[in-house]
Amino acid sequence: MRIYLIGYMGCGKSTIGRKIADLLKISFVDLDKYIEERYFKSVPAIFAEEGEKGFREKERSSLFEVSQFEDVVVGTGGGAPCFFDNMQVMNNNGITVYIAPDTDILATRLLKSKTERPLIVGKSREELIAFINDALLKRAPFYEKSKIIIRGENNLDPQHLIDMICQFESKD
Ligand code: S3P
Repeated sequence: MRIYLIGYMGCGKSTIGRKIADLLKISFVDLDKYIEERYFKSVPAIFAEEGEKGFREKERSSLFEVSQFEDVVVGTGGGAPCFFDNMQVMNNNGITVYIAPDTDILATRLLKSKTERPLIVGKSREELIAFINDALLKRAPFYEKSKIIIRGENNLDPQHLIDMICQFESKD
């Protein structure tokens, strides 16, 4: 079983991903962490030294690599589905789940988060909300190619998500 969690920064991919991987007794891979370990460089350093283009290329190769792993939950970076044919790669190799909380929830989480995110560094709450809404207009068409879409939930129940994935698998 290979599950990809998709969605905007702050949607909770890593938190819920770890929980469902534990319950399913399989591994969780955070794609950003995988990239950092694979290339011995932090995400902010890759953006600073190689630009977003350099990051997206590394993200793409890393996505291919983790798509060879069996029995894994992959938490992808917020932009991963929106470059190259990454969404198709994920849909061909596993179950994609788009987690889509409301913008307000995303902004609150991002303002509290300690993770350094080069695309939103230094933004106020108002700037962040405008930035997220604008980004979602462009990104939603990619995210919405996911096999499962979960909207508007704040604290998503891991067992509920597993049930949805299992139901989807039995239909597929
Ligand atoms: C990005 C999201 C980040 C990380 C990078 C770019 C994006 O991942 O990949 O900073 O383009 O939305 P998270 O969604 O895990 O924060």
